[in-house]
Amino acid sequence: MTLAKAAAEVRERAWVPYSRFKVGAAIRAASGKVYAGCNVENVAYPEGTCAEAGAIAAMCAGGDYKIAEVYVIADSPEPVPCCGGCRQKIAEFAGPDVRVTMATTDGKEKTVTVAELLPGVFSAAHMDRA
Ligand code: THU
Repeated sequence: MTLAKAAAEVRERAWVPYSRFKVGAAIRAASGKVYAGCNVENVAYPEGTCAEAGAIAAMCAGGDYKIAEVYVIADSPEPVPCCGGCRQKIAEFAGPDVRVTMATTDGKEKTVTVAELLPGVFSAAHMDRA
């Protein structure tokens, strides 16, 4: 299945009673497997989770830890940008050259790399003193 289709399908299952803004995300892992996630909101608003976080959790649950490609879709006038927290979450499992495509439900797409999405990323190397 294409990432675009997986993301569009899972988006329909988002739980968004508060924002009414459904987001779908799909990840192709280095293994070739595709994992998908949607946003899941909560009445305690900060407890809600983004679509990207759901897809990453599904990927780890499936035993994959390396992202090869990401696709995110929402019903938005312009391709939906991943939030700051999700940029860091993606960077945990993706190299700087991994492509992230942001899309609208009416077919607009914008593709950037992880390095473009999160310049100056905090990484494990920043904790190396020796
Ligand atoms: N949201 C995502 O799931 N991913 C993004 O990249 C941007 C925002 C969700 C969080 C919340 O459920 C809704 O969109 C409105 O912020």
